[in-house]
Amino acid sequence: MRRVWNIVQRAVAPAHNDSRSAELYARARAVLPGGVNSPVRAMQAIGRDPLFIDHAAGAEIFDVDGNAYIDYVCSWGALIAGHAHPAVLEAVAAAAAAGTSFGAPTALEVTLAEQVARRVPGAEMLRMTSSGTEAAMTAIRLARAQTGRDVVVKFAGAYHGHSDGLLAQAGSGLATQGIPTSPGVPAATAAATVVVPWNDPAALQLATERDDVAAIIAEPCPANMGLVPATDGFLELLRERADACGALLILDEVISGFRVARGGESERSGVSGDLIVLGKILGGGLPAAAVAGPRALLELLAPVGEVYQAGTLSGNPLAVAAGLATLTLLDDGAYAALTANTRRLAEGLADAGGAAVSVVWVPGLLTVFFAADPPHDLAGARRCDLAAHGAWCRELLVRGVYPPPSQFEAWFPSLAHTDEQIERTLAAARAAFAAVAGSA
Ligand SMILES: Cc1ncc(COP(=O)(O)O)c(C=O)c1O
Repeated sequence: MRRVWNIVQRAVAPAHNDSRSAELYARARAVLPGGVNSPVRAMQAIGRDPLFIDHAAGAEIFDVDGNAYIDYVCSWGALIAGHAHPAVLEAVAAAAAAGTSFGAPTALEVTLAEQVARRVPGAEMLRMTSSGTEAAMTAIRLARAQTGRDVVVKFAGAYHGHSDGLLAQAGSGLATQGIPTSPGVPAATAAATVVVPWNDPAALQLATERDDVAAIIAEPCPANMGLVPATDGFLELLRERADACGALLILDEVISGFRVARGGESERSGVSGDLIVLGKILGGGLPAAAVAGPRALLELLAPVGEVYQAGTLSGNPLAVAAGLATLTLLDDGAYAALTANTRRLAEGLADAGGAAVSVVWVPGLLTVFFAADPPHDLAGARRCDLAAHGAWCRELLVRGVYPPPSQFEAWFPSLAHTDEQIERTLAAARAAFAAVAGSA
């Protein structure tokens, strides 16, 4: 007898074993606060425990239980070429074989600085650090030294790393944890930071009508409250207000640098900062970041000037090699491919999610907001349906897709994501939306 299968799309989650992750999580919590070395990895915002990763290749990541996922975190944007790219591995292996760290200058770091100077508008010189946090902190110190002023204007929902003065309403991890600012930050330090809502020209105007502002610091393409690009004219207004009040404009391109365009958002928007903060892609998946800008500002730094800044592993040869190998891959064809990948994914996700979600994208970044209209600021992002977003992410994970585990983050499509993987992602997304709708 011929058997006829009646296939219906069921909102039942496939079986998903994560027992080894659970065991590791129990061990981890005994020796690492919350079981993790960076808060958002704990996955609390989506209501589940973290997955422990065993290995990865291209756009796929594998956990310790052997589950495979199409990865849209890609080390929070550092891996624009995907995991374990052969050219990056080869460069790192060659560098490692020659010695892992010298604490002395190398030829490769000069080549990397020259490459950055050719790509990023206004980046005449750079000083490397090991993290974006240090680079942003150094940019602030330079701005204060240059202007002789203390106050920093930042935007609610923008994250510039975890240095004291920059933690006020800092989006991302803090938004995820619901912490407006952090205990342990001295009141005097917090008082030197003025926080302004993003995309609010009147509030920016008001905050900069004073003569003690050292810097306006902004993510020109903010991705730490989800992706919330500037509304028309707002980036130009940042430039205008910085000039009007005699402050420096610091553009934090740790995420957008080398991603949204060859020279980052500064190139895409045509609005240049006085200082630019770079990270993530700059280190190609190893720890590297930098503050970049004109000679006149960068040479305030020791040993030329008196502004002190240093780092045992700054310009580490392995990180420099990985960064250079990655930048070498990023030609015009790569940006066209990344744009096509992101568009396909974003349009597919918008189609799958329907009226309940809004998908915002720029080349290499997207966020699926659980709100009918895209937010324009942190308050709008907070109004999203966080419970539904969390449930959707959990459904994606059991269907083999690894999304950033918070509404206040962006997806990081890479050059390694294939059409087939994007199609599989969209099929999983459709099933996950159905499952969430079914359980509502
Ligand atoms: C825009 C931005 N600036 C700075 C940082 C801090 O970089 P790091 O985590 O390397 O300290 C981040 C981290 O995600 C970031 O997104």
